[in-house]
Amino acid sequence: MRLLTGGWVLSAIVYATAASAAAPAPAPKADPEKGKQTAAAICAACHGPDGNSPAATNPHLAGQHAEYIAAQLAAFKSGARPNPIMAGMSAALTPDDMRNVAAYFSQQTPKGGAAKDKALAERGQLIWRAGLKQGNVPACSGCHGAAGAGIPAQYPRLAGQYPELTLAWLKAYQSGARAHGVMGPIAARLGEADMKALAEYIAGLR
Ligand code: HEC
Ligand code: HEC
Repeated sequence: MRLLTGGWVLSAIVYATAASAAAPAPAPKADPEKGKQTAAAICAACHGPDGNSPAATNPHLAGQHAEYIAAQLAAFKSGARPNPIMAGMSAALTPDDMRNVAAYFSQQTPKGGAAKDKALAERGQLIWRAGLKQGNVPACSGCHGAAGAGIPAQYPRLAGQYPELTLAWLKAYQSGARAHGVMGPIAARLGEADMKALAEYIAGLR
């Protein structure tokens, strides 16, 4: 009994010391198990239970970087990235909910997509790898990686995404509907045919 009491006092002192030394307190580690519950309750219907979306209207999230998912959820909630559906879906999420669900989806395995139009994908591959010297378009691979896996935490994974969505996003960056200092000017220099070619190539990346 004395030992138990002594141990409790000791741990209380250690705890108090640690608490006063740690200012500001670091954010708690993301909990993918909690995130899995949020995913099942809210997100699965559209993004699939494991983030492999069943429909081309909803993006794949499996394997996307956790930081990117969490940042996009915050942007939907604040309206910085306007989208009526995702504004609603993110409205009730706290920053911890966002980090947890982001951790869960980032740990799921992407099933991958496919390019259907070979000639179109070849044109896309050219721009992806080398950019367009004439149009002053940089190679996409420079930031999104040779195989489209992205570079955490800044550059999102694109590989395997539905081409309809990649095209819609490039157009949104171009029009400014989705305002972004890096992707805005890049998309502004792309014609629609080249956007389609890139979207097709990206769909087949793994
Ligand atoms: C009713 C369908 C629906 C539900 C439910 C839903 N989403 Fe979405 N989500 C979408 C659509 C549609 C988009 C594409 C928006 C766009 O085009 O910008 C999207 C986009 C996203 C994106 C941006 C992906 C990217 O690569 O830019 C993230 C992240 C996301 N959703 C996370 C979630 C999470 C987490 C949940 C659950 C809390 C959720 N969504 C629930 C339909 C849904
Ligand atoms: C200088 C670095 C850089 C280059 C080069 C670049 N990107 Fe990006 N890209 C980014 C960043 C950063 C984001 C995240 C923007 C945001 O938060 O909305 C992004 C986002 C995207 C998205 C949205 C992904 C999603 O899931 O929401 C698409 C699509 C995209 N880029 C396509 C391209 C294509 C196609 C090219 C080549 C023509 C390209 N990018 C070149 C930095 C780059």
